Amino acid sequence: MRKKVIAGNWKMNMKPLQAEEYMREFIELIKNAQSEVIICAPYIDLERLVEITKKTNIKIGAQNMHWEETGAYTGEVSGSMLKSIGVEYVIIGHSERRQYFAETDETVNKKVKAALNNELKPIVCVGETLEQKEKGITNQVITNQTKLALEGLTQEQVENIIIAYEPIWAIGTGKTATSEDANNCIISIREEISKIYGQNIASRVIIQYGGSVKASNAQELFTTSDIDGALVGGASLKPEEFEKIVNYDK
Ligand code: PGA
Repeated sequence: MRKKVIAGNWKMNMKPLQAEEYMREFIELIKNAQSEVIICAPYIDLERLVEITKKTNIKIGAQNMHWEETGAYTGEVSGSMLKSIGVEYVIIGHSERRQYFAETDETVNKKVKAALNNELKPIVCVGETLEQKEKGITNQVITNQTKLALEGLTQEQVENIIIAYEPIWAIGTGKTATSEDANNCIISIREEISKIYGQNIASRVIIQYGGSVKASNAQELFTTSDIDGALVGGASLKPEEFEKIVNYDK
């Protein structure tokens, strides 16, 4: 049985004091959660969040990283830097990074490898645009993105990644994929992993859904056969709202 993994993606929100305030409230609210809980915060919040959550069931993730270890890359942060302050997860290839910061399947693959080499767990995002959905090529797009993101990884490494299926048209729009459609897309991604790494590995990889997940649709999404949790943007910004998603089974 795969466990549910529920990650909040704060995006470019929350200054350190706000992050601290949020966390003090959130820790109490979710201390008995059955799911694994991750908060992916802006770089400037990370060190403080790692400290505050040390003896709790909350893990901390970054939202991006560079694939090189050190060097002349002004403004970038590397996987080893994240690791050195106790960060455990990192979102890679979020559609906003692909769209606004020119990330490609190739750079996504480099970042995934660099994350794993630094013992960080990547949350790798894939998903189709509205235009691709309307053209009926969703499966082709998401299975291809998955294949390219994982290129060159060993079986053992693949077991340590999380994939987030996030249809771009559903992100921040209030439009959620139906639980049936989201589940079917995730089944296609799992089949793609199975083709490359075998069914045994594929059945163990955590694959989340993301795109306007909120308290009112979490339970329906999470009780399907293949959706293993969510990557949550907007609804993760308030502790009492995110708590309801994390505790969807209570
Ligand atoms: P949303 O964002 O929940 O606000 O739609 C999800 C994401 O971008 O990860």
